[in-house]
Amino acid sequence: MYADRVVSGMRPTGAMHLGHYHGALKNWVTMQAELPCLFFVADWHALTTHYDDPSIIEASTWDMLVDWLAAGIDPSQSTLFIQSKVPEHAELHLLLSMATPLGWLERVPTYKDQIEQLANKDLATYGFLGYPLLQAADVLIYRASQVPVGADQVPHVEMMRELARRFNHIYGKEKDFEEKAQEAVKKLGSKRAKIYNELRVEFQQDGKVDALEQAKAMLDDAQNLSMIDRERLFGYLEGCRKLILVEPQVRLTVASRLPGLDGRKMSKSYGNTIALRESKDVVTKKIRTMLTDPARIHRTDPGDPEKCPVWQLHLIYSDENKKEWVTKGCKSAGIGCIECKQIVADGVLKEQEPMRERAQKYLDDPSLVRAIVADGCDKARKLAQETMRDVREVMGLSYS
Ligand code: TRP
Ligand code: SF4
Repeated sequence: MYADRVVSGMRPTGAMHLGHYHGALKNWVTMQAELPCLFFVADWHALTTHYDDPSIIEASTWDMLVDWLAAGIDPSQSTLFIQSKVPEHAELHLLLSMATPLGWLERVPTYKDQIEQLANKDLATYGFLGYPLLQAADVLIYRASQVPVGADQVPHVEMMRELARRFNHIYGKEKDFEEKAQEAVKKLGSKRAKIYNELRVEFQQDGKVDALEQAKAMLDDAQNLSMIDRERLFGYLEGCRKLILVEPQVRLTVASRLPGLDGRKMSKSYGNTIALRESKDVVTKKIRTMLTDPARIHRTDPGDPEKCPVWQLHLIYSDENKKEWVTKGCKSAGIGCIECKQIVADGVLKEQEPMRERAQKYLDDPSLVRAIVADGCDKARKLAQETMRDVREVMGLSYS
């Protein structure tokens, strides 16, 4: 019933690296051409783990936005904004919290995992427990249909779906819903009203999903309905409830796990990263000093790519010809590690070239980024306010 829409966010907790690009950003760039997308900096989420030292958040936020733009997020296609600039997220978080069972939050797998992993921080806080609920508010407030996330976040999206269902169940009940829905049916005009009723019966009695889809398509085309009548008619098709919040789908990010400089997953905590906009010299130096197959002590010793972290990067950056050249040359000691690494360095530099170019424009004139974000915040806020109007109304908070 609501337009297809994509929402996703990232926490500003430090510089972005190539792992983020291959793990998430590249996907966002693809998606923005397919569907309307909202991408935001989850600065409140960063505070859930960095509440005792928020000093990096502001700088990381602006750096991250430049990184996104550098990676190819196009502000004429995507809406870019900062979570805390759309305070409606907090309001929805609060209102959702009223009816969210504690057990739902305690059961989220990332909750206990993170508390154990970040044992040096005291995460026995209210804010940290509410992390996935805030995330649910981020998505539900835009009635998003899709959320691109990695596998670790799937339980969070599942919880969002449960929350939306529960919310619609509790608050979508109107005393005279049936009557109001039937009045709304009349507003479709007699011909459409008849079709609507027939399709509704076909779906409810015979479970014909086609009929449901057809009826939904018809409602999409019906111009003269108010927002609220439209919601009633969508809800009436499937039962006796208004649909106020939409259940979003996971759009699983194709996991292309980028190995870091030491062969482990690229991650800030391992200190094995290449920053997205790392300077050319540093990229070359970092790759040149990578460890290789320990058996290749001398240039004349043959090696085995399977035992070398540089090979892991070839798998991402090199074509078949180059990979064959490496395998043969390494095993026969026909090539040296320096040459081999240069190919990877060239690949990384080539990938980064357009990013560096795009970033330069924003580094030269930071007001451009401010303007993009101000515009994005306005757009996001309008959408968020529409949803909140409905949420407040059904929760008994629309006093005038
Ligand atoms: N929790 C996400 C992460 O750690 C970040 C995030 C916050 C998010 N709000 C979101 C992702 C809403 C998708 C949708 O990566
Ligand atoms: Fe690694 Fe390449 Fe050296 Fe072989 S030649 S050990 S793959 S860097």
